[in-house]
Order: sequence, then structure tokens, then C-alpha cells
Amino acid sequence: MSFMERLDKILSNMGFGTRKEVKQLIKNKEVSVDGVTAVCPDLKVDPDKSEIAVKNEPLIYKKHIYLMLNKPKGYVSATQDNLHKTVADLVPERFSHYKPFPVGRLDIDTEGFVLLTNDGALAHELAAPKRHVPKTYFAMIDGEISQNDISVFQSGIVLDDGYKTLPAVLKKSGDGVFVTIYEGKFHQIKRMFKALGKNVTYLKRIKISGLELDPDLKPGETREITEEEQKKLWT
Ligand code: URA
Repeated sequence: MSFMERLDKILSNMGFGTRKEVKQLIKNKEVSVDGVTAVCPDLKVDPDKSEIAVKNEPLIYKKHIYLMLNKPKGYVSATQDNLHKTVADLVPERFSHYKPFPVGRLDIDTEGFVLLTNDGALAHELAAPKRHVPKTYFAMIDGEISQNDISVFQSGIVLDDGYKTLPAVLKKSGDGVFVTIYEGKFHQIKRMFKALGKNVTYLKRIKISGLELDPDLKPGETREITEEEQKKLWT
């Protein structure tokens, strides 16, 4: 991705303070672009092509951003929607210039782990049906879960449209169940239980591939995924 952006916006997005504070840095002649002291905060710069330095320290500009969001109910997994609030509304301003988008979808009433990135290649790989990336959910169900239900999940379930799901893992846990699926059909988990005559009353995604949702991330909070954690997305 290559783009021209105002110098003050780039610096502010990178944590050098508010636009006002950043303008002061520029005024103090503490910012340079390709070795030349910057004088205009509105100078258009391509951070991928130009070297920006603050107090003689060159900035390391990231091209891609990887964010973990704990989605609350009431938000749609999109960047724009005419009716509802979107997960993009929960992305802190300092990340918004990266234009992150959600990888895959959670229903409006589903909570939990949404991965947002501007890395199209990673998004494509994680969503590719042939990769069968596992996703794990915690669900609450009205009705008892039997050993037979667990076996049926294991063999694959025929949904209302005749599609037979891939084998899935169902495990009881306290007042709910953990479900791992290896594909992502529309309303898949709700429809799998529906096929067994049961309703999902609560659904939360807790893991994508090998990466678990940070239990310290409160609903509505977003944080960057570390490099170590990024590797877990590939396992
Ligand atoms: N399955 C569902 O039914 N809903 C989701 O949001 C995700 C998986």
C-alpha cells in the first residue's frame, strides 16, 4: 500500500501527540523528511518512500496493522453500514489511517474475537475455504447436550439448505459448550444446533486458528496483535 498523507497526521497516528503538539514539533524544526527539515505540517508525504525523522531518529513505518477486537453485541462485522454500528467504529483513531477491515464475519448478536487488518494476503489466506482454519466459540444452548449431539457434530451436520458441514468438535463446559468449526457458513453454529432442535442463546468467538482472544480485553476494546501472536494465526 502506498499513499500520501499529511505529515502532521502521520506523526500523530504514530503516537507523537495531538495534531497541535505535532505542529509544535514541526515548528521547533525537530522533524525532517528525507534529511530536509520540515516546515509545513500539511506537507504530503508517502511514509513508505520517504524517511521521516523526529529529533534525528528515523521512524519505522508499518505497512500492515493486525488488531484483536473483543466485539460486543450490536455491532456488524463491516466497515460501513446504514443501519447499525460497525466494528470500524470500535477501532481507535490512531489505527484508522491503516483502514483495517474485519476478516470474516460474526453475527450482530455474537460477541468475541474479530481480527481486523489491512493485510489483504493474510485476510485471503485465513478466509480461504481450502485452508479449513479452525475457529472456536463458547456457546450457551437451551436444552441438554447429549453424547449423541457430540457424535453428530463429529460426523458433520446437514443444515437447512441441505449442506453437510465438515466434522466439528463439540465439548461441554460448565453452563455452556465449546464448539470448533473448520469453515464459516452463514450463521453456521446457530444452524448446526437448530438442525438438532436446539437454540443458541449466547455465542462468543474465543479463538481464531491458534490465537486465543485476550481474556483481559473488555467488550469493545481493541489492541494490536504482537508478532509472536501473529505467528499463531498460521498454526
Ligand atoms: N456461527 C454463527 O451462527 N454465528 C456467528 O456469528 C459465527 C458462527
